Amino acid sequence: MQYQELGKTGVLVPEIGLGTWRYTGGPEPLRRGIELGANLIDTAEMYRTEDAVGEAIVGIRDEVLVATKVLGSNLRYDDLLRAADRSLKLLRVDKIDLYQIHWPNPRIPIAETMRAMDRLVSGGLVDHVGVSNFSVGEMQAAQAAMPNVPIVSNQILYNLRRRGAERDVIPYCRRHGITVIAYSPLHEGALTGSASGRLRRALGMNRGNETLEKVARQTGYSVAQVALNWVSDQAGIIAIPKSNSVQRTEDNCAASGWHLTPEQRQSLDQAFPV
Ligand SMILES: NC(=O)c1ccc[n+]([C@@H]2O[C@H](COP(=O)([O-])OP(=O)(O)OC[C@H]3O[C@@H](n4cnc5c(N)ncnc54)[C@H](OP(=O)(O)O)[C@@H]3O)[C@@H](O)[C@H]2O)c1
Repeated sequence: MQYQELGKTGVLVPEIGLGTWRYTGGPEPLRRGIELGANLIDTAEMYRTEDAVGEAIVGIRDEVLVATKVLGSNLRYDDLLRAADRSLKLLRVDKIDLYQIHWPNPRIPIAETMRAMDRLVSGGLVDHVGVSNFSVGEMQAAQAAMPNVPIVSNQILYNLRRRGAERDVIPYCRRHGITVIAYSPLHEGALTGSASGRLRRALGMNRGNETLEKVARQTGYSVAQVALNWVSDQAGIIAIPKSNSVQRTEDNCAASGWHLTPEQRQSLDQAFPV
């Protein structure tokens, strides 16, 4: 597993972390992932998987970076403090390593939200603050409202099929030392063929997949590994695939530590245009 710096914190995060939206795999896939170096677990109050994460990290808490998120509807000062408290209890930890705002909420002043984040950091309940689904303008406003604590990450939809962030959010994050945490890096399974028939059609999964399969054959890696490597073998970007299975978690962890050739990367870029 290769690691990258989280923001400018000096903390290293794995290129492949562990997502837990719709996670029902029990402790084993997460524990195996951690064993293989994928020691960042992403959850959220919305997912209702914080307790499963808490269970999986019993006895190995110090080896893991726990990232969770506050709901966009809990961004009032008191609501956010209460949400953090609930997450800490469910996760069975005394500190959240990375606390992220799940979605921006234009109905709540960002200054109020960031004041609560600042309080959690100064109180030692949160180590690092991140955002998710934030545009460049929203990141700037959030940072301006919390001048003493850096925003270290933005978790965004980014995969071969969803490359819009390359236009603005990713370049901005690179310039400002903000780590991009790519969610749905397998496009919810549509890139690997594991999505349901309806989801496959909804996500338009057949276009471009032939190229992905061809590159996978050339490299000897699986389609999932190629799709993940394409995302996370880029400066400042890590990926957090979710899998309920030990075997697929092992597969995903082995997506880091090697490089596609420039030609393979180019053919994927062309087959999946921005
Ligand atoms: N911030 C946000 O708004 C936001 C939104 C969405 C997601 N997220 C985060 O990002 C994480 C990942 O995104 P996601 O769960 O939407 O989708 P994803 O990771 O792109 O895809 C998950 C799907 O791919 C399958 N899969 C995983 N590894 C595979 C492999 N090696 N081979 C074949 N199939 C494989 C999984 O099935 P199995 O489980 O059966 O293996 C599952 O159906 C989430 O769990 C969550 O933590 C954040």
